[in-house]
Amino acid sequence: MSAPLPGPVMVAAGCGGTGRELEPFCGDDGLDGLHVVTRSITLDARSGGPGPRVVEVPGGLVNAVGLPNPGLEHFLATELPWLVRAGARVLVSIAGATMGEYADLARRLARAPGVAGLEVNVGAPDDVGAGLYEVREPFHSASVIAAVRREFASDRPVLAKLRPDVSRIVEGARSCHEAGATAVVIGNAVPAAFPDGRAGGLSGPAVAPIALRCVAEVRRAHPDVPTIGCGGVRDLASANAYLDAGARAVQVGTALLHDPTTVARLRATLRTTAHLPGPEETP
Ligand SMILES: Cc1cc2nc3c(=O)[nH]c(=O)nc-3n(C[C@H](O)[C@H](O)[C@H](O)COP(=O)(O)O)c2cc1C
Repeated sequence: MSAPLPGPVMVAAGCGGTGRELEPFCGDDGLDGLHVVTRSITLDARSGGPGPRVVEVPGGLVNAVGLPNPGLEHFLATELPWLVRAGARVLVSIAGATMGEYADLARRLARAPGVAGLEVNVGAPDDVGAGLYEVREPFHSASVIAAVRREFASDRPVLAKLRPDVSRIVEGARSCHEAGATAVVIGNAVPAAFPDGRAGGLSGPAVAPIALRCVAEVRRAHPDVPTIGCGGVRDLASANAYLDAGARAVQVGTALLHDPTTVARLRATLRTTAHLPGPEETP
């Protein structure tokens, strides 16, 4: 059985807070029916990295937040039920230090009421996701996806979130899809540095052309692999650039930190355009 492809407009991981912060900016519909990817959830709570965690640079942000999150148990008890009550279609982003941790997270989330699907974070910018399972080669990410898929029903989407690295993306996307990913999210923040040289990840408009190139390369090599564009989406033009390059949906991240109404506005506009398949259409 193939899982429905989420979209067409989604909240990118870590950029919608817990959902409560975003809801007041989402118009009359609120979060109802909106695909919200949570911040990455780990088995144990993480307090995140030292400050400053985010700085503005020309064209975007550099961040090294360190994936702060309350850990799985607390998430299941508080954040998840709230999002479900608000009507969000919740895609839980998961991150682990080992392949076993990813599998454990998937097993427990498979039983949790209200989880629409998973997004597997195997694309944190190097150094920034310190302590996460190290994904260097495409077979590393594909092995994680296979381990997650074994624990998570095939009628619900599992998204593989990869780095927008053009030298690896075609192989990475293909192998993750073969391993059971419903779609591949391209991409994450791009490895970069803070002005003081500390490692971070660049996001925002500056990374859009990089992720767009990756989406186009995957489309060219493997048109059967569904992709979701993520990086610098902020308006109709930037969303349509991904869709025209072959992406089946888009995610909005950094733009929400500048203007939290972005996702609701984009959702309303894309509903009235012919660019996209409906959210329930299978890949
Ligand atoms: C403050 C901040 C926190 C983020 N947290 C996460 C996270 O928890 N998990 C994850 O997979 N990506 C995380 N990201 C990456 C975004 O989801 C997105 O992939 C990236 O920023 C590129 O998209 P954008 O240019 O629209 O922001 C974070 C990005 C920012 C700026």
